[in-house]
Amino acid sequence: MPEAVPVVAVDGPAASGKGTIAERVATVLGYRYLDSGALYRLVALKALRSGADIDDPVALAALARGLDATFAGGRLGLDGEDVTEAVRDEAVSAAASRVAVHAPVRTALLERQRAFRVPPGLVADGRDMGTVVFPDATVKVFVTASADERARRRHRQLAQRGIDVNIQSLLHDIRERDARDGSRAVAPLVPAADAAVVDTTELTIDAAVQAVLARARAAGLAA
Ligand code: DC
Repeated sequence: MPEAVPVVAVDGPAASGKGTIAERVATVLGYRYLDSGALYRLVALKALRSGADIDDPVALAALARGLDATFAGGRLGLDGEDVTEAVRDEAVSAAASRVAVHAPVRTALLERQRAFRVPPGLVADGRDMGTVVFPDATVKVFVTASADERARRRHRQLAQRGIDVNIQSLLHDIRERDARDGSRAVAPLVPAADAAVVDTTELTIDAAVQAVLARARAAGLAA
């Protein structure tokens, strides 16, 4: 009865902090963690590497169905190769957002995502966890932050990796991705009607984690 397994759905835009927050909440609760964005990134990387057309839904859906992906110890594998860093590349990020527009791709990834729902529970991070993939989630949170703050965070992350990118161009990319993710016809990035919005613009990660845990406890999940 997978429906009986609790799910904490953490949705939100890029660089809102949702990934870090979701991972920490999963650790505290002792739940499994799903980074659903990684699946779209893997499809994009596979498409870029194999020369598939990034705008061909049928070809991409076939890629998505046959994806040889592994998630183990915080590392991401594609066809047996560690691609944890490769999927974070800006070119892959942009391609992932385009890949994610296609309904057949989203359908192809649906069961793969739902398979992560195993006891004692799951924390799932993405764009449509609370709206489409796990509409019966026990707790739904929509994590957000201003576009300026998200650009600053992304800039800091890249600087830590020795990459110097103009902050204005990051802000431009973030706005472009927000517009595409929010306006697409299928599973657009919008909070579920029953989601609690957590704005992290002025919050530390710890405070945001506590806000999500408080909701999990209020819903009867042990923490
Ligand atoms: O969360 P992320 O930045 O790693 O996601 C990469 C892309 O995948 C992003 O542009 C939106 C898309 N995505 C999606 O459409 N649905 C999800 N559940 C997760 C990500």
